[in-house]
Amino acid sequence: MTGLMRNANGSLFDFGPLAPLYEGWYDTDMGQAFDRIQRRDVLSLLEPYTPGGMVLDVGCGTGHWSGFFEQLGFRVVGVDVSELMIREARLAHPNCRFQRADAVRLPFSDGSMDMVAAMAALEFMAQPLDALAEMIRCLKPGGRVLIGTLNRLAPINQQRLLEGEEPYASGRLYSPSDLWRLLSRFGRVRMVGSTMQQPASPVAGPPPGDAFADSSLLVAEVLP
Ligand SMILES: C[S@@+](CC[C@H](N)C(=O)[O-])C[C@H]1O[C@@H](n2cnc3c(N)ncnc32)[C@H](O)[C@@H]1O
Repeated sequence: MTGLMRNANGSLFDFGPLAPLYEGWYDTDMGQAFDRIQRRDVLSLLEPYTPGGMVLDVGCGTGHWSGFFEQLGFRVVGVDVSELMIREARLAHPNCRFQRADAVRLPFSDGSMDMVAAMAALEFMAQPLDALAEMIRCLKPGGRVLIGTLNRLAPINQQRLLEGEEPYASGRLYSPSDLWRLLSRFGRVRMVGSTMQQPASPVAGPPPGDAFADSSLLVAEVLP
C-alpha cells in the first residue's frame, strides 16, 4: 500500500491482515520496554484520576490500551474500523466491550464518556480533525481526550519512514508542534514525550523548540 492512500474504511492503512500478529510486538524485549515507559507517561497525565468512569478507546486495535484502562478501574468500550482487530480485542479483553465503528461516526451519545482515548491511532485516520471533533462530542463536561501518537521527529520513526516501513509509511505522523497546533483547536493541551532515559514531565502550552525530539511517542491530553 502506498503512503497516504485512503483505505475505504477511513484508515490510511488496513491493519486487518496484521491483527493475529499485532500483540506479538508487545512480547518482544523492545515492545515491553516501550510499553512500560508509555504506560508511565500516560499515567503522568492521568493522575490523579477517579476510577469507575466510562472510557472510549478509539482505534483500539487488539485492545492493548483498552485492557490497561480497564486495569485502572474504568469501564471500557473500544471501537475500530477493522473487524479483524476487533475480533482479537474481544478474545484478549472479555471485560471490555468492542464494536466496529469509524472514528468520524462514533455510535455514542453526546456527553456520554468520562474520557476518550486514541492511542497510536490518530496518525492512521483519514480524517483526524473530524475524528477529534467526534471524540470531543462524546465527552462529558469535565472529561478529557487522551491522544498517544508516533512522533515524526524521533530517530526511530525517521528511520522507519526513510525505509518505507509499514504501517508507519502509510501514516501521517505528527511532530510535537504539529500535534499541539491540531489539538489546541479543541481545548487546553498538556503533552509528554516518551523516552527510555527519564520520567517525563507534562508540558502545558506549545512545546518549546525541539522538545520531545527523541521521544518515540507523544502523549497529550485535551481539556475542552
Ligand atoms: C497502530 S494501530 C493502534 C491500535 C491500538 N490503539 C494500540 O495502540 O495498540 C491503529 C488502529 O487504528 C485503527 N483506525 C484507523 N483509522 C480509523 C478510523 N477512522 N476509525 C477507527 N479506527 C481506525 C486501525 O484499524 C488500527 O487498528
